[in-house]
Amino acid sequence: MTILVTGGAGFIGSNFVLDWLAQSDETVVNLDALTYAGNLENLASLDGNPRHVFVKGDICDRALVDATLAQHKPRAIVHFAAESHVDRSIHGPGAFMRTNIDGTFTLLEAARGLWSTLEGEAKASFRFHHVSTDEVYGSLSPTDPAFAETKGFEPNSPYSASKAASDHLVRAWHHTYGLPVVTTNCSNNYGPYHFPEKLIPLMIVNALAGKALPIYGDGQNVRDWLYVRDHASAIRAVLAGGRVGETYNIGGWNEKTNLEIVHTICALLDELKPDPAGSYTRLITYVKDRPGHDRRYAIDARKVERELGWRPAETFDTGIRKTVQWYLDHAGWVANVQSGGYRDWVAKNYGEAAAA
Ligand code: NAD
Ligand code: DAU
Repeated sequence: MTILVTGGAGFIGSNFVLDWLAQSDETVVNLDALTYAGNLENLASLDGNPRHVFVKGDICDRALVDATLAQHKPRAIVHFAAESHVDRSIHGPGAFMRTNIDGTFTLLEAARGLWSTLEGEAKASFRFHHVSTDEVYGSLSPTDPAFAETKGFEPNSPYSASKAASDHLVRAWHHTYGLPVVTTNCSNNYGPYHFPEKLIPLMIVNALAGKALPIYGDGQNVRDWLYVRDHASAIRAVLAGGRVGETYNIGGWNEKTNLEIVHTICALLDELKPDPAGSYTRLITYVKDRPGHDRRYAIDARKVERELGWRPAETFDTGIRKTVQWYLDHAGWVANVQSGGYRDWVAKNYGEAAAA
């Protein structure tokens, strides 16, 4: 059996692919356009593994998506591919509309085409799993209850609006055409292979380089944090047992202010790699706030726990320690990302033609 993963060279997608291949004997076809966020070096441990089939391509390219589905006939599609960084969506929203909305539309139509050719058990068990975000629900005040699946959508950034649009498309393709979909809305992930433009990896790599740790606004914005391998296990659980047409919120029960996060990282670095110049907290710098900055996200993950028995394995303390240690142990990965060298990985490992 085969599953198709989109965006499997990105942060969460690559962790999911590694997890999937370790947990099952199925093949993963990985369709990824290798934008700046796609890094095949994340999957270097799979070189030569015949159960990982990489296809460089754009989810907006209907002909390519159709051909990939026709060739591999996956029993499920797990859709991660997206533009994912809120700050980039503020500076250039166009790419977000294209990939997150048009790309999801293209993939849904191609999936519907494949699904309509299936019969019997193959048709009944086919799944389109859409990976989405808690940001579609909007922003909470300190006393609001956490987001439940019944909460209305109130997206505030171009990124979250594009993800909300994609969630609506997925819902409509189920309601109108019967496509067997499930959607997961997850909180902030962290862990290995996280691109250092997002809060946690940026703070770690900047601290190690002696650079400023930029805190937007007053640093009191709250996010819920989930270790990325726990997100992978949640997707496995929902894909295996989630009810068709349902959405499941996934979270870590770890609400933290940004300032708490940065202080925790500094304390771990002070312990694991002390800097003779003094505590890393000296690098904390308050900068101009993100426009439209959502104040608080919090996830009520009781539905996935009640229906599927899923709970995160990591606490924030164990997950953040592993993460900081991973960055200390993978200075080469960080250096390749910072120099742009990771973009040569395809040419080096798959030949110039694949890199084109
Ligand atoms: P990422 O930015 O690290 O990776 C995105 C991947 O998609 C990259 O490999 C990129 O090359 C690929 N991609 C982008 N445009 C493409 C296109 N047009 N065609 C094919 N591939 C394309 O993202 P991430 O943080 O791993 O997030 C993965 C998914 O999870 C996204 O859908 C995101 O909205 C969602 N999500 C992320 C988080 C988080 O904390 N990072 C939390 C909840 C949900
Ligand atoms: O909630 C899930 C979402 O989490 C995902 O859907 C997104 O794809 C993912 O990028 C993430 O969005 P955030 O905007 O919450 O993540 P980011 O790491 O960009 O920022 C986390 C918080 O830290 C946010 O309040 C902004 C703040 N921040 C971020 C950066 C990069 C800073 O204070 N300084 C920074 O330099």
